[in-house]
Amino acid sequence: MRQPVFNFSAGPAMLPVEVLKQAQAEMLDWRGKGMSVMEVSHRGKDFTEMANQSEADLRELLAIPNNYHVLFLAGGATAQFSAIPMNLLTKNKKADYIDTGQWSRKAIKEAERYGEIHIAASVKDDGVLSIPTQDSWSLTPNAAYLHYTPNETIDGVEFHWIPQTGNVPLVADMSSNILSRPINVNDYGIIYAGAQKNMGAAGIGVVIIREDLVKEPMPTTPILYNYQVEVANKSFYNTPPTYNWYLVGLVLAWLKKQGGLSIMAEHNQRKARKLYNFIDAHSFYHNRVAPACRSWMNIPFILQDNQLDGQFLAEAEANGLTNLKGHILAGGMRASIYNAMPEEGVDTLISFMKAFADKHG
Ligand SMILES: Cc1ncc(COP(=O)(O)O)c(C=O)c1O
Repeated sequence: MRQPVFNFSAGPAMLPVEVLKQAQAEMLDWRGKGMSVMEVSHRGKDFTEMANQSEADLRELLAIPNNYHVLFLAGGATAQFSAIPMNLLTKNKKADYIDTGQWSRKAIKEAERYGEIHIAASVKDDGVLSIPTQDSWSLTPNAAYLHYTPNETIDGVEFHWIPQTGNVPLVADMSSNILSRPINVNDYGIIYAGAQKNMGAAGIGVVIIREDLVKEPMPTTPILYNYQVEVANKSFYNTPPTYNWYLVGLVLAWLKKQGGLSIMAEHNQRKARKLYNFIDAHSFYHNRVAPACRSWMNIPFILQDNQLDGQFLAEAEANGLTNLKGHILAGGMRASIYNAMPEEGVDTLISFMKAFADKHG
């Protein structure tokens, strides 16, 4: 039996129990084939049907218009840090990036290998972390694209608005907030995300790309990073990560069963609000992100006395609340509460934090 734990890991993150149970039940006999999904041909009828259904479900959940392609690619989000400049910085070598934290910086560092990267704005840190408003950004007219990270997983900084870029395509790394709420795909040129937070298991990512952005990439582009090739082959140029794709399919079907993304948005906002309200009401805990930029998905907090960090984590673990340690670069704690985290998990965490503060405060 699955241990009764609430897993607050930032990713790989907890999956819905129903999804794990279905994967378990289908392990030895998928679709009456007498074998697992891992053992069937990716070009066979059953896998193709599964792949088509997962694309259809993603299109339905995010209301993806017909002029966007959907790719399921190996390599997670980091592969796209390279693929995006290789595919988009061909004639025009200039791109703008917004630096809101560690993941933005990784994307920037990689893109700098391929073109002229201009950092149009950076997160403000005067003790409180905040995203500068767009009127202070220095955007390059006619940049090939503007890249940003709508949710910074490590510091828990999230955009609750969409950059306005006119004719410059907006490229978004939605690894840690995709499918957490409805979005308007038309606002973006490319949306990409690794699966292991809100969509499935590590090793696969999704790329949603407007058709006019699929063009001849740099000649040195590895074939698997070539969007033209992947679009022409419907993500089947080589053997895709079939099991991971199947898991994404199960998560998408689960999301539809929950009622879709408006319902998820309500749940997610309610869970996050509860935890922030609790933290703000207790001086024993502190979150240092400006309220307007606080993430619904990743909620970092520090204890007033960091000498208690070890004890907090050990006692949390003993109470079935796991993986609350903050990222090594941020320290403190972090509760990641993606779609699969039930509200009961957040309530249990809050009760534990209250009891811990009462004892040590
Ligand atoms: C916002 C963001 N971008 C990119 C990545 C890297 O993703 P992957 O490990 O799938 O390459 C992560 C992973 O934690 C992330 O949180």
